[in-house]
Amino acid sequence: MDISREIERYFQAARKLTLEAGKLIKAAIEAEKNVMAKGNQGDIVTANDQEVEKILISGLSSEFPEHKFMAEESAENSPLILTDVPTWIIDPIDGTMNFVHSFPQCCISVALAINKILEVGIVYNPCNEELYTARRGQGAFLNGKPLKASGVTELSEALMIIEPGMLRRSRAKRDITKGRMEVLCTLAGGIRNVGSAALGLAYVARGIIDIFHIDYMQPWDVAAGFLLVSESGGIVIDTKGGPPNLLEPLIIASGTRQLAQEVSQLLVETDLKIQRKRLQRT
Ligand code: IPD
Ligand code: CA
Ligand code: CA
Ligand code: CA
Repeated sequence: MDISREIERYFQAARKLTLEAGKLIKAAIEAEKNVMAKGNQGDIVTANDQEVEKILISGLSSEFPEHKFMAEESAENSPLILTDVPTWIIDPIDGTMNFVHSFPQCCISVALAINKILEVGIVYNPCNEELYTARRGQGAFLNGKPLKASGVTELSEALMIIEPGMLRRSRAKRDITKGRMEVLCTLAGGIRNVGSAALGLAYVARGIIDIFHIDYMQPWDVAAGFLLVSESGGIVIDTKGGPPNLLEPLIIASGTRQLAQEVSQLLVETDLKIQRKRLQRT
């Protein structure tokens, strides 16, 4: 079996299903949604998230019955472990809060890992029909046009996305997030918050965002984006500077290693200062 032809077949099937499921999001974005709360504060789901996930999983599993799935809305039935078996990592709508508000920054994120290596990444924003695709070793593309990550190395010149999701969590995490925000807002050229981790990473791949940082994510938020960034010449590192962990993503993604490392160092120093202050208070 020619594995690269097989992967091309997997990619084409996922691309077709993603475009098809995207029509559903586009048709629903302006409409009223029936919003349901999930376990964590601020985590919501709509019937559209569930329907998109169903289209993708049923389509892919009928073509490739031996494949496994790791998908947000059915995660309870699929433990977060990667094996060597081809595994689809799916976020049916990344940016559900945006979707519910008709804010057109939301996407479908689909990645495929084989032997625990990311082979395919697809991020599709159906609102503006932007389709970001990557296959390992073949580059990253936006609607078929090759992408190149930015060459910016100075934080003072960088446009940065930060998703401060941790603010809602424990007091300790809140203090750390606030400390990080203060430092980054002071030093970065500009700060944005998009509300979709997958699109944030796609924007790094596209070179319109120089650096992106997010902690405490799930694999489906970032898997496709990881491949987009690395295939466009960018880099993804762990917040502390090491290699990123797909199953427990604490990440910095950038067009250049220099910028990623500078921000990692800043975050590590800031976290230490905040922790010391907390210790002094107790
Ligand atoms: C969310 C988005 C957002 C991030 C949140 C995620 P969802 O995913 O990726 O950017 O800040 O923490 O939960 O729930 O919209 O798929
Ligand atoms: Ca969610
Ligand atoms: Ca998500
Ligand atoms: Ca989601």
